[in-house]
This record gives sequence, C-alpha cells and structure tokens, in this order.
Amino acid sequence: MRIVILPSASDVAQFAADIVANQLEIKADSVLGLATGSTPVALYDELITRYQAEQLSFKEVVSFNLDEYIGISVTHNQSYRTFMNQHLFEFINIDIQNTHVPEANLPTKQALLNSAVRYEKSIAEAGGIDLQILGIGINGHIGFNEPSSSLASRTRVKTLSQSTIEANKRFFNEDEFQPYLALTMGIGTILDSRHLLLLATGENKASAVRAMIEGPLSAMVPASALQQHVNASIIIDQAAAAQLSLKKYYQWSERQRSMLAQTGLGSTNE
Ligand code: F6R
Repeated sequence: MRIVILPSASDVAQFAADIVANQLEIKADSVLGLATGSTPVALYDELITRYQAEQLSFKEVVSFNLDEYIGISVTHNQSYRTFMNQHLFEFINIDIQNTHVPEANLPTKQALLNSAVRYEKSIAEAGGIDLQILGIGINGHIGFNEPSSSLASRTRVKTLSQSTIEANKRFFNEDEFQPYLALTMGIGTILDSRHLLLLATGENKASAVRAMIEGPLSAMVPASALQQHVNASIIIDQAAAAQLSLKKYYQWSERQRSMLAQTGLGSTNE
C-alpha cells in the first residue's frame, strides 16, 4: 500500500485531485468510482475548480457510486444521487447519462436483487473501474460494507450498523425517517478496481486508519481488505495518521518514492 501522510485535510484534497487529474490525462474516458460523505467534498470542490480553470474535462468520463440508501427517493435531499448532483455533477461537464448510482428506491426484495446484479453488469460492461475513490467509516467500513461483511462480497443490500446510523444522524432532521438499509458495492466489487484511492481526515478516523493499515486482514475491519490490493493509495492527514506505529517509515518511504521517480526506477511502496 502507498501511504501518504500530509499536513492538512486540504493537502489531502489537492493530492487526491492530482491523482484524479493524472488518471484523466492517461485515459480521458476513465471509469471513476465515487464516494459520498464529508471526506471527498474538498476533493470534489478542487476538481470543480480545476474544471473551471479548463485544466480538466469529464466529457468522456463514466462514473459509478459506491452506494445508495434504501427507503428514500432519489430526489430526497439526503439521497446519494442528490449529493453527487449537488457536490459535483452539476458543476462539471460529465454527461449525466454516464453517471451511475445504485438504483435502490425499489419496492421489493427481488427488485433490489435484480438492481444489484444490473449494477455489477454495468460496471463490467463499462470495462471495470479504473480509479475508485473511498472514504472510511469510524468502524472501518468502506462503502456500506459494515464490520463482518464478506471480503468477497458483491453489490447487495446491507443493514447499516448502529455506529453508521449514529454517524449519519447529523444529515437528517430529528423527526425524519433515517434509512437503515443500503444498496452497496461489495468488498469484492471494490477490490476489482484497478486503483483504490482512500482518503481519511480528522482524529475521529485515526483508530480505523490504524486498523486498516496495521491491523490483521479481517471482515471486522472491511477497509483492511485494501491490504490485498496491489494498487491502493491511502492519503491521510496528520490527525488521521496519529495512531500509526510505523508513521516515520511511511514518510521515509514516500520520500524514497519521489527520489526513485526522479531516477526513473519507479517505486517500491506497494
Ligand atoms: C460513502 C461511503 C462511506 C463513507 C464513510 C465515511 O459513499 O461509502 O463509506 O465514505 O462513511 O464518511 P465521511 O466521509 O462522512 O466520514
């Protein structure tokens, strides 16, 4: 894993935007995997800024979001479709027809199962995900793959954990229905992406970040599955890195990476 520790959350956003920009430079019609939540908002703001400065184009990009709530309509102000429209899609030149968010507002279990199968199929038909952006829950989840999720899971319905419901309470009014189910890409689906880009900022993520990087591979920490991916970049700020025991080594290794890149020898961070 490539572990990059940066001074602040805004440095994380800049660094991640550089990785996205590089991906689009290599392949204008990249397939991007996108996340919602507070963490990627600064990255999306930076991508919008670079698009407005004509440094980036999303004209040929295809996107797939990680997850969507079950039980609220797509037009609800807290649906992940609304989130993506309001935080990114409305401000860039992506073709909205090329943006995919799991279709989860469906009346029956069978309809949801079919939707999950269709989502997997659409990703495969698009050629697979080139770059998947991820956040991490304080309980170590990725997407809505809560602790105890199968590390081989595919897109499916998941029951949200109490901790996730609590963490997301802030987005809903007190008297409002808060979803407790979601349709989410599975861990296996996520691991199929060619490059994983996980962002974490703030001290409330420090324990999950340590478990992801330095803990054992375990279904109890779904993000630890990144240990099995050969091209995973974990970009974190100092606060999220606070509990890492090998912090100095990661920083040293990153400096070596820059030096090796200058000499054309490539990197050794995976
Ligand atoms: C969002 C998602 C979640 C979030 C995670 C962190 O699509 O899949 O896994 O990335 O809950 O959320 P924030 O960034 O709000 O702390």
